Amino acid sequence: MWFLVALGVVTGASLVRSAGYCSTNTFPTNTSSMHFSKEPVPYEYGFQDKFKSIHCCVKGYRSIEWFKDGVAYPWSAGVSNLILYPEAANQTLYTRRAARSDSGNYTCKLSNETHSETHTVRLNILEKPTDAPKTMFISKDQWVEEDSELRLFCEALIGRPYLADAGRDLRWRKVWPNGTEGDLSPSQTEIKTTREDVEDIIGSYLTISRVSAHDYGTYVCVVHSNDVVARSYVTVHYKYAGGSGWCGGAGVPWRAVAAGGAAGVLLLVTGLVLHRRCTPRLLLAARHARARAATAAHRARVLEKEFDVCVCWTAVDGELVRGALLPTLALKYKYRVHTAPLSTTPDNWYSSLVCEVSRCRSLVAVLSPCQYSSQQLLTALRQLRALPVPPVVVLLQDLPKLKREAKESGESLVEVLRRTRLVAWRHVHERAFWTQLRLALPLPPARTQEKHAVETEESKNSRSGSLTALV
Ligand SMILES: *[C@@H]1O[C@H](CO)[C@@H](O)[C@H](O)[C@H]1NC(C)=O
Ligand SMILES: *[C@@H]1O[C@H](CO)[C@@H](O)[C@H](O)[C@H]1NC(C)=O
Ligand SMILES: *[C@@H]1O[C@H](CO)[C@@H](O)[C@H](O)[C@H]1NC(C)=O
Ligand SMILES: *[C@@H]1O[C@H](CO)[C@@H](O)[C@H](O)[C@H]1NC(C)=O
Ligand SMILES: *[C@@H]1O[C@H](CO)[C@@H](O)[C@H](O)[C@H]1NC(C)=O
Repeated sequence: MWFLVALGVVTGASLVRSAGYCSTNTFPTNTSSMHFSKEPVPYEYGFQDKFKSIHCCVKGYRSIEWFKDGVAYPWSAGVSNLILYPEAANQTLYTRRAARSDSGNYTCKLSNETHSETHTVRLNILEKPTDAPKTMFISKDQWVEEDSELRLFCEALIGRPYLADAGRDLRWRKVWPNGTEGDLSPSQTEIKTTREDVEDIIGSYLTISRVSAHDYGTYVCVVHSNDVVARSYVTVHYKYAGGSGWCGGAGVPWRAVAAGGAAGVLLLVTGLVLHRRCTPRLLLAARHARARAATAAHRARVLEKEFDVCVCWTAVDGELVRGALLPTLALKYKYRVHTAPLSTTPDNWYSSLVCEVSRCRSLVAVLSPCQYSSQQLLTALRQLRALPVPPVVVLLQDLPKLKREAKESGESLVEVLRRTRLVAWRHVHERAFWTQLRLALPLPPARTQEKHAVETEESKNSRSGSLTALV
């Protein structure tokens, strides 16, 4: 009896505090239209026979309806024990004693007068604490303008400590350009969070009130739980002020494609850090060395074409191309650059480019994937790939997530993307981007003075001769 009363008090307190979940750490916005008021968490965990609540935190809505695996609320005991908490304006569902059968997909449907939106929470009720941490939320890659505000969030279920001094921790770290992880700088503030319903769920916000140059790059959310460490990466990209390519942040279905899934992203990031930093620069240096040993005939071939690079873009990306890409290619890296603006719809890109491209040794196409549907993106890439010079595609945003539903067009788009040289735009001062781009392009002609060139001709010939002999 005492026990039951005590239990009642505890879960009652949990309920009241859980109800406050949606009013803490909300997005700092004062818009009145319907929006999520904090990061919508897609994965939730609870434990058998324990209190558990899940939420859909929204503002500006007229009604919320809940569904479990497609069945509308209220549910019979066989479907789910979770019940609405009306005091939290129906944003919260809870149960005092969770059962394994409560696991499932809970979808909230939010509506105002004109729109409706859904969010699905995948709830898993576990029998016992886990060893390995389970990531519940990690922000997507962001594109932010300088001086604007940034907020990243990471949340995970961590294991019960089975050693007295075992570390249990979740925190944000910065990935330095050399690939090592370092502490955050003073302008990058961390706010740790806990949950009232499940003490093993911890999280952390990383906030920057005014993003400056050194804030761009990759961050990692490191979760320690007993001996297991899990890392999730988020990259903050530079967004050109006044540029139009905003793909949206949390909750919008555009996402990094990354061949699918968090594991892919992780591998990719590790790979990028190791690979992007060292190998490309070595390769570029090697190419320059080889070019220095090039024959006069080769140099003549290079000069046959009027231009080294043909850069094409559509109106939406004009500012970035004219402001950053063209000047850097032409002035800093000494390419002979030709330009070709494109129409917004990709259907006639081949015919509008084919003449211009024949005057160039290579082609750079600047694309904002956000501007296109998957089908249009496929058309765009097919048009570009049909050109006599294989395109190097500079992507200004991450590619759309290629949904399972759009299988036919999705899969062939994936195929085409795999076979296309893609370079992700970063900051104009990001050396890795320029190294990668230059590696994808032919070298510009050497601007040696005639006299110097003639003088060294013989030694060069002999050098390339000896190289040939070696091969
Ligand atoms: C929203 O807040 C910003 C400052 O955070 C303020 O400048 C702006 O006027 C506010 N807008 C409305 C509609 O209240
Ligand atoms: C409903 O919400 C959407 C945003 O989700 C907003 O654009 C629209 O203006 C809202 N409609 C009304 C009538 O408030
Ligand atoms: C909350 O849910 C109850 C029961 O489904 C419903 O009657 C009520 O209108 C809902 N309130 C809101 C604000 O959605
Ligand atoms: C919940 O949704 C996911 C993916 O959408 C699916 O794989 C899973 O089987 C669903 N779970 C249930 C219980 O229907
Ligand atoms: C990586 O760079 C950071 C600062 O940029 C520096 O503090 C650190 O020592 C470097 N680490 C290595 C292994 O070079």
